Amino acid sequence: MDIQKACDAFRCLLEEQLRRAQNMNQEKTDFSQKESITIGIIDGDGIGPVIMSQAVRVLEKLLQPQISAGKIILKKIEGLTIENRMALSQAVPEDVLTQIKTCDVLLKGPTTTPMGGNMESANVTLRRELDLYANIRPVSIPEENIQWIFFRENTEGEYVLGSRGVELPGLAMDFKVTTDAGTRRIAQAAFQYAKNNGKNRVSIVTKANIMKKTDGKFTAICHEVAKDYPDISVDDWYIDIMTANLVNPAIRNQFQVVLLPNLYGDIITDEAAQLQGGVGTAGSANVGDRYAMFEAIHGSAPRLMEEGLGDYADPRSILQATAMLLRHILCTDAAQTLENALQTQQETVDVTKGITCQSYTDALLKLL
Ligand code: IPM
Ligand code: MG
Repeated sequence: MDIQKACDAFRCLLEEQLRRAQNMNQEKTDFSQKESITIGIIDGDGIGPVIMSQAVRVLEKLLQPQISAGKIILKKIEGLTIENRMALSQAVPEDVLTQIKTCDVLLKGPTTTPMGGNMESANVTLRRELDLYANIRPVSIPEENIQWIFFRENTEGEYVLGSRGVELPGLAMDFKVTTDAGTRRIAQAAFQYAKNNGKNRVSIVTKANIMKKTDGKFTAICHEVAKDYPDISVDDWYIDIMTANLVNPAIRNQFQVVLLPNLYGDIITDEAAQLQGGVGTAGSANVGDRYAMFEAIHGSAPRLMEEGLGDYADPRSILQATAMLLRHILCTDAAQTLENALQTQQETVDVTKGITCQSYTDALLKLL
């Protein structure tokens, strides 16, 4: 690619991103008004089918009355596997996307993202195609009175053009995108959550001292939105010191809602999940106005599969996500029951004790 071609490609990207920013407003799905709700079930790769089959058992038990009455439909969606995606050279094959769009919400196992190459991650594609702009990740450490909730912008930043950078001989360049509209909606989601849930502090995290345009805009728009929430205090942090703050026992329990752009949110939520007990323990919601997708915070764990330990995959992360899904579709009692059971159940998956993903769930089902 010579410089002229790279500039032409850049022009197209700019035009496309401006168009995206102009078309962001969608009508919100109102689950209290829906006659029936379809939950798409996507197994994913690696340990995905192992943990998903257990999550489905839990859903079937908790939602048994609604499923029998036809008010909730569990719809299995096939074909979002790394083999199929590679064979078709599509991050999310078209017919799979069509199936997905017939659902209201999705429960999805982890999908494998090839490193390098041109194939985009299925997650990133789905977040973009379904416009799932809010990545919401709660983390709690009760012994320390810590209850964090991260609102990560999920459709822009480093991710939106992550597979469409340019390369010249000896040079590679990727692009990071921040829009007013895209920032405003994630900021509103975070502040509104704080207001509705009795939180009085939102912490904005960027690297605006270095990423002046994009993170500078992110911070500025978040502060604009904050003006509509005078009872909520706002503080600004750079991502480097914020990663330190999360391991600083003197101050870490003071953080409540954390609002941040895409890549920083990706990184810091793994750190937070690890502090809670491991990436196997944290759920993740990808929420847009029309659709929402719930998943484990971790990946498909190919190493665990290679070692033949797939049966010992920890289902807690996907089960936390299942509870978030239930809350989202207003099955509040079922969500509460599952959350309580996850808290009560002490024994976790453990190779040395022979506690598998399935036997963990057997015990959990008895608590429901
Ligand atoms: C996550 C994951 C994804 C991300 C990957 C699988 C693309 O790490 O959901 O945090 O980077 O967002
Ligand atoms: Mg991640």
